[in-house]
Amino acid sequence: MLVSATEMLKKAKAGHYAVGQININNLEWTKIVLQTAQELNSPVILGVSEGAGKYMGGFKVVQDMVAALDEEMGITVPVATHLDHGTYEGCYKCIKAGFTSIMFDGSHYPIDENIAKTTELVHVAHQLGLSIEAEVGAIGGEEDGVIGRGECADPDECKQIADLGVDMLAAGIGNIHGKYPADWEGLSFETLDKIQQKTGIMPLVLHGGSGIPDEMVKKAITLGVSKVNVNTECQLSFAAAVRKYIEAGKDLEGKGFDPRKLLAPGVEAIKQTVKEKFELFGSVGQA
Ligand code: 13P
Repeated sequence: MLVSATEMLKKAKAGHYAVGQININNLEWTKIVLQTAQELNSPVILGVSEGAGKYMGGFKVVQDMVAALDEEMGITVPVATHLDHGTYEGCYKCIKAGFTSIMFDGSHYPIDENIAKTTELVHVAHQLGLSIEAEVGAIGGEEDGVIGRGECADPDECKQIADLGVDMLAAGIGNIHGKYPADWEGLSFETLDKIQQKTGIMPLVLHGGSGIPDEMVKKAITLGVSKVNVNTECQLSFAAAVRKYIEAGKDLEGKGFDPRKLLAPGVEAIKQTVKEKFELFGSVGQA
């Protein structure tokens, strides 16, 4: 059931669990994430970066694919199609394509410009019934060619952006996209605590959810994180399983080269990763 992310996140914040944003990359990804969410009776947010949207042929292709799968697969759990780290222009493209949720990442603008652009997009999104995420304090690592430094957000700036009426707020607390370096200092719970105190009931978003130790994720959820984003971990488990299949020479046996067979172990691996994440986040049975 395609919906905005507003209600599922309000429920998660009140219930002290988090909804998983699982980023999608193709048809196989989308199908297995939807199937897993349905089997576990969990809400889910399908994250689509601008790069992934382009790769899949455009945001309209993505939106129509998700809507058609939602219908054909009889998905009844809440599902949101969400632009991940959107530019100003990307937000408008996704609104036009029919996404149910957008993220405007204005974290690289001076705070006044971030506020001005976020204010406009909140107005447009809410008029159309979409949810909107904003960001303060860059998330570290690389995503679609943009390198963030992993800085901690200023709690006062978080309050300023939260007061604009966004539905969820991504605030940097030392988290990084992609693999965490060996000398990573961990999440700054002190910063998270201050942000939560300033922003109250606002659902907070933890980006870079791959590779954060489980105990840290759980603690972040107790401090107001209601959405955790996961991309890299699904990519790694998919790639490892397909590699194993090929290295075992299975693609050379019979019709093992059939893409439906070749990619099947990867799809099964994504399912396992998503299941583990939903269990960790506490969203199982919350649809
Ligand atoms: P990872 O790729 O580190 O899981 O981060 C995903 C994310 O935060 C998407 O915005």
